[in-house]
Amino acid sequence: MKNAQDVIQADLDYICDHLVDEFSVLSGNKLLITGGAGFLGYYLIQAVLYWNSSHSDKAPIDLTVYDNYSRGIPDWLSSLDGTNNLTLRRHDVTDPLPEDISDFSYIIHGATIASPMYYRKFPIETMDANVGGLRFLLEYFKQQKEEGKPVGGFLFYSTSEIYGDPSAENIPTPETYRGNVSCTGPRACYDESKRYGETLCVNFSQQYDLPIKTARPFNNYGPGLKITDRRALPDFARDVLAGNDIVMYSDGAPTRTFCYVADAIVGYYKVLVKGNNGEAYNIGVEGPEISIKELAEKVVEISTELFNYQGKIVFEVSEDKEYLVDNPNRRCPVIDKARHDLQYNPGIGFEEGIRRSLLWYKDNAIAEDA
Ligand SMILES: NC(=O)c1ccc[n+]([C@@H]2O[C@H](COP(=O)([O-])OP(=O)(O)OC[C@H]3O[C@@H](n4cnc5c(N)ncnc54)[C@H](O)[C@@H]3O)[C@@H](O)[C@H]2O)c1
Repeated sequence: MKNAQDVIQADLDYICDHLVDEFSVLSGNKLLITGGAGFLGYYLIQAVLYWNSSHSDKAPIDLTVYDNYSRGIPDWLSSLDGTNNLTLRRHDVTDPLPEDISDFSYIIHGATIASPMYYRKFPIETMDANVGGLRFLLEYFKQQKEEGKPVGGFLFYSTSEIYGDPSAENIPTPETYRGNVSCTGPRACYDESKRYGETLCVNFSQQYDLPIKTARPFNNYGPGLKITDRRALPDFARDVLAGNDIVMYSDGAPTRTFCYVADAIVGYYKVLVKGNNGEAYNIGVEGPEISIKELAEKVVEISTELFNYQGKIVFEVSEDKEYLVDNPNRRCPVIDKARHDLQYNPGIGFEEGIRRSLLWYKDNAIAEDA
């Protein structure tokens, strides 16, 4: 692999190869993705379109994307406008659903502000998308069933942040752990609205017998996560590609397991199609668990090899006083449930994922700073 195009091709092949059954189930159905202009939308959308184009013998998956484009319309998405079986619509999920909404049998609700830097700036909007926006969609789904229309699956994007800062004996963290979360801290708008969102999903599923499932993503990274997003890897990539030293705003001690986005996307479609109703699934990788400092070191190492990068890691204090408040020290999932129920088996290793990401960032080094 030499450039972003090679990476995207390899990733789309990988995703479609691992979703043979799931995409066959979605074939001929109408799928709605909210928040599709974001990071995870990048491959959620492109994988469906790629599957459609490479399976002309099967009924296409008819995809509609709602997004309020609060952080701009990315070029990759506008360039897809006009593709067969793709409808792009500007819609804010905190508003009532459009009156002419189509009959969607599958829904993925990802719309919210997801980057800590941004959700702390817009906490109310973040909560509204995860609670009010979710409610509109659940009511719609329930009504579809009442009208005798097909309801195949509904996926709510929760987060590993619902576990907060787990106590030592709850790391690695299984779905059964109840969490250690502040309800008033600077991250609470995100964590608590996801928790309430999960409660809504469980109760809609049970009370109205609906196929609603929840995914709890653990630190995804890779193509689609724009370089201006202010999460760790894009920040490091931006420094590298500008020829600057990598700046760290912490001691880099907190640890995470990082899940390459192609593996995560496979997991999400599996939860949507095969997940048990009213249940939540951790989607991530068990290892390696590495510190943010080690992540930076790996970026330096691979960038030196790929781009002859000459920089080093430097430490600075963030001007943002709340930058690290309630930032969990360790984050690492147990994924036995997804392995067992969904045959979810993430296979792209950490080094390979970082390499693919850096190749992608090289060709996607400019993005709207929003
Ligand atoms: N990426 C991860 O590692 C990760 C981890 C945990 C949870 N998640 C969850 O997965 C989902 C997708 O995450 P992402 O990383 O792609 O986020 P993202 O910020 O890249 O994309 C979110 C998208 O939602 C849109 N949006 C925000 N508010 C909206 C509103 N009111 N109406 C319509 N659109 C709105 C934004 O414009 C953006 O395009 C989110 O629900 C997020 O909380 C992601």
